[in-house]
Amino acid sequence: MKVFIAGGTSGIGLALAQSYLQQEAVVAVCGRDLSRLTNHPAYDALIKFEVDVCDRDALAAAVDSFCHQGTLDLFINCTGSYADDVAQAISYEEASAMLRVNMLGTLNCFDVASEVMRRQSRGQIVTIASVSGKLDFPNSSLYSKTKRAAIQVADAYRRALLPYGIAVTVIAPGYVDTTKLRQLNQQDLSKKPFLVSVDDAAQRILKAIQQKEEIVIFPKRMKWLMGFLGLLPHVLLSKIMFRKAKWMKND
Ligand SMILES: NC(=O)c1ccc[n+]([C@@H]2O[C@H](COP(=O)([O-])OP(=O)(O)OC[C@H]3O[C@@H](n4cnc5c(N)ncnc54)[C@H](OP(=O)(O)O)[C@@H]3O)[C@@H](O)[C@H]2O)c1
Repeated sequence: MKVFIAGGTSGIGLALAQSYLQQEAVVAVCGRDLSRLTNHPAYDALIKFEVDVCDRDALAAAVDSFCHQGTLDLFINCTGSYADDVAQAISYEEASAMLRVNMLGTLNCFDVASEVMRRQSRGQIVTIASVSGKLDFPNSSLYSKTKRAAIQVADAYRRALLPYGIAVTVIAPGYVDTTKLRQLNQQDLSKKPFLVSVDDAAQRILKAIQQKEEIVIFPKRMKWLMGFLGLLPHVLLSKIMFRKAKWMKND
C-alpha cells in the first residue's frame, strides 16, 4: 500500500504516518520544514519531501516522484493553518496563511491526487477539516469558514471522482492534543472540551479511512454538542461561541 501524507511532519499527520508504517505501508510525507524529522531513527523509513502544498507544481512533482509512474492508494491532506480569530484579532499574515493553506492547499491536494488516481481508476483521498466547519453561523471564525469551505470542496470532488472509483473521506475532529494546539494555547488545554490524544485521533481516522466513510466527526460528544448548537438561532449561537472563545482566552 502506498500512502502520501501532506502535512505528515507533525501532529495528526505524523501520527498517521507512523500508524501506516506499522502496517508496512510505503509512506511519504511532505511539509515545508523537514528538520524536525531528521536524526530521528523512528522516521528513517518515511520518504520525505520538502514541499509547500500551495505550490501545485512542486506538490505534483513530489507525488509523481513517490509513485514512479506506479500507483497511489491513499492521499491524506493533514496540512492546515490555524490561529485564534474569534476572541482576538489576527494579523493579515495569519489570515492569508489560513486562506492559502486551508483553501488553495486543499484544492491543490485534491487536484494532484485525483490526477494520479484517475489514471489508475482507483484510490482514496482524505482531507482533515474540523468539527468547527460543521457549524454554520455568520460570526464564525475565519478558520471555521475555511474548514467549512474545505468540506464543501471535498463534497464536490467526491461527486466528480465517483465514476473513477475514487473515494473521498472528510475527517472533522474536535480538539486533538497536538504540539501546535498546545503552542497556540500557552500549553494549557484545560479548557478544551472532549480533548482526545493524537494517537486516539489517529486510530479513529484510520478506521474511518478503512471503512471509506464520507465524513467522520469525532469524538461523539463533540459531534452531539455541535448538532445541538446547530439547532440554535444564529444570533444566540454567535453570542455563545463568542463568550466561549473569550472564556477560553481568560478575557
Ligand atoms: N489539533 C486540533 O485540535 C485540530 C482539530 C481540528 C482540526 N485540526 C486540523 O488537523 C490538521 C492537523 O493539525 P495539527 O494539530 O496536527 O497541526 P500541525 O502539527 O501544525 O500539523 C500541520 C502539518 O501540516 C504541515 N503544513 C502546514 N502548512 C503547510 C504547507 N503550506 N505546505 C505543506 N505542509 C504544511 C506542517 O508542517 P510545516 O509547518 O513544516 O509545513 C505539519 O506537518 C489541520 O488541518 C488542522 O486544522 C486540528
